[in-house]
Amino acid sequence: MVNLALIGTGGMARHQAEQFSKIKGCRLVAACDVDEERVRAFASKFDIPEVYTDAADLLAKADVNAVSVVTPDAYHAPITLQALAAGKHVLCEKPLATNYADARKMTAAARKAGVVNMVQFSYRNSSALTKARALIAAGKLGTITHFEASYLQSWLTSRAWGDWTVTPAWLWRQSSAHGSMGVLGDIGVHLLDFATFPIGSDYRSVNCTLKTLNFIKGKKRLGYTLDANDTAIMQVELANGAPGVLHTTRWATGHNNSISLKIHGTEGALAIDLDKNYHELSVCLGKDRHTPAWKTLRTRPGSSNFQRFITAVRRNKPVDPDFARGAAIQKVIDACFVSSRDRKPVKI
Ligand SMILES: NC(=O)c1ccc[n+]([C@@H]2O[C@H](COP(=O)([O-])OP(=O)(O)OC[C@H]3O[C@@H](n4cnc5c(N)ncnc54)[C@H](O)[C@@H]3O)[C@@H](O)[C@H]2O)c1
Repeated sequence: MVNLALIGTGGMARHQAEQFSKIKGCRLVAACDVDEERVRAFASKFDIPEVYTDAADLLAKADVNAVSVVTPDAYHAPITLQALAAGKHVLCEKPLATNYADARKMTAAARKAGVVNMVQFSYRNSSALTKARALIAAGKLGTITHFEASYLQSWLTSRAWGDWTVTPAWLWRQSSAHGSMGVLGDIGVHLLDFATFPIGSDYRSVNCTLKTLNFIKGKKRLGYTLDANDTAIMQVELANGAPGVLHTTRWATGHNNSISLKIHGTEGALAIDLDKNYHELSVCLGKDRHTPAWKTLRTRPGSSNFQRFITAVRRNKPVDPDFARGAAIQKVIDACFVSSRDRKPVKI
């Protein structure tokens, strides 16, 4: 039995609690939040017996062998390092950290502790993505020549996810003083993983432009200074030589949460659009590229990150995406900030 604690009990923790509650062999035994009222309501809703308002206290007293860190980004590194020092298996929400130095420390500490470590890149739950990786590994696309991907949200112009102007969960995401790396760190982090997991090649260089639109920049709202980037545009090159274009924004009116990817190769191409389907991809392979003709491939849903984390803990086996992958993506994010500041490409 995996005795699990959730640290941070906001919006994402609700989703996690619903998912973990359904997994056999996993028991939610403790919850922690600096907001006592919130953690008590959360614990009562999900029938969690132990409640804490301090992560160190939980780690010292609760009978847990694994924790999930679901706080705002700035607390991922300090809480994860404490959890690893206490010998706990750790699932950490993305982004793994707010800088590469911390992400490396977390990776090294997890290795030293010999525990299961996973970063929650949730789009790995798409079986279409896994299939794309298998097709590319089997050589069906030939040599990868180009790729493009985008992650579009619109909560700065839409109320679909609530009113950001009065909601702390949206306000901390716009404030660098609260540890936010803007849209790049919030959802660009997913995009960087999503685009290259199927290709299986690391980033070699990035040329990035980060933008904070002027009619928001520097404004204050409920104690949060709105200065974090809200658009990121990246021109990248991979170690295998493939060039790609990635972009993400919170200003994509008409898109609640749209993530898509196209990969082109000498022998074929594939496209994934998660707005349409998590478990379907379009392919244009072999002779079909001459027409061109596209076909739809349906894939069978696999295990979720949450299921895979619990299985890994029960077997004490490594799981992907691990902290090393989270750190590798964080290194690209750090490079994006340097590139945008210096207005030139940066090697990774
Ligand atoms: N993987 C995904 O697809 C996905 C989706 C949404 C959010 N997230 C990530 O999940 C994390 C939480 O996001 P959210 O939307 O739930 O934010 P949120 O603001 O709704 O919730 C964060 C909670 O953490 C609590 N908290 C703050 N500091 C704490 C501390 N030191 N110890 C314990 N609790 C603390 C806050 O009081 C709040 O209740 C973020 O890192 C975010 O990037 C990931």
